[in-house]
Amino acid sequence: MTDQHPDDVLTAVLHASGATDGDELPVVLVHGFPVDHRMWDETIDQLGVATLAVDLPGFGDAPDATGEPSVEAFADAVATALDAHGVGRAVVAGMSMGGYVALALAERRPDLVAGLALVDTKTVDDAPAARENRLRIAAEAEASGTVDAVRGMSETMLGETSRRTRPDLVSTVAGWIDAQRPASVAWAQRAMAARPDRTAVLEAYEGPVTVVVGTEDELTPVEDAEHTLEHTSAASDAALVLAPEAGHLAPLEAPAHVAGALERLHRRASA
Ligand code: MLT
Repeated sequence: MTDQHPDDVLTAVLHASGATDGDELPVVLVHGFPVDHRMWDETIDQLGVATLAVDLPGFGDAPDATGEPSVEAFADAVATALDAHGVGRAVVAGMSMGGYVALALAERRPDLVAGLALVDTKTVDDAPAARENRLRIAAEAEASGTVDAVRGMSETMLGETSRRTRPDLVSTVAGWIDAQRPASVAWAQRAMAARPDRTAVLEAYEGPVTVVVGTEDELTPVEDAEHTLEHTSAASDAALVLAPEAGHLAPLEAPAHVAGALERLHRRASA
C-alpha cells in the first residue's frame, strides 16, 4: 500500500484512438520505462479495436508524479483516469513497467480488468543488486538533471535484429528517452525498486491472459515470459505469443504480431 498524501493525486493521461460503440471493451495500453504512449503507435495502427494509450504520471503528456514513488500510485492514476473517462471495464496491456502497473491494477481494481496482456514484462520483484542499481540511476538522474543514466536503453530495449537492420528505430527510441524528465526517471526507478512480487496476483486472476515476448528480448527474456505463463490460473486459459526478431520493445518492433495477440485476447474478453 502506498503512503500517499491526500494532495498527491497523480494524473495519467489517456490518448484515445478508434471509435467505440460504447459497449465495446477498449484496450488500455500502458507503456514501459523510460518512454511514453508513443511506443504503442505502430501497434495501434494495426489494431481493429478502440484503444486508450496511457501516459503514466511524469511521462509524455502527463503532469509530474509527486509523493512516495510506487507502482501502486501509477495504477491508481490509471484507474482514476479510466473512471473519469467512463470506462467500466477494459482489456489492459502493459509492456515491462506497464506490466507491473497492469498487475497492480488487477490487484487493486479487478473490476476494471476484463483481460490482461503482459508484454515483455515479469511478475517478480527485483533482486537486491537490481534494486540498488535503480536507486543509483535515480540519484544520478536527479544529480545530473539529465536522462544520461538511461540513454543507453535506446539500444538495449531493441533486439539484435532491429539494432542491425533498423537504425531508424534506435534514433526514434533515443528521441523518446531524451524527451522524458529526469525527475520522472528518478521517480519511476524508485517506484519499480519498491514494487512487490505480484506472481500471486496473476495466479489468482481468472480473466483471459496473453503473455507476449520478443524472441530477442534481452531485458525480460523468453524465460521470464515462460515463468509468467506457468503462474497463470487455469481459468485464464493463458496463451504465450512469441514476437519473432523483436526485442524488449516488441510493440514497436513487431507490431503486427502484438496487435494480432491483443485482438485475439480482446475477442476472448468480449465473448
Ligand atoms: C521497461 O522497459 O519498462 C523497463 O525495462 C522496466 C524495468 O526497468 O524493469
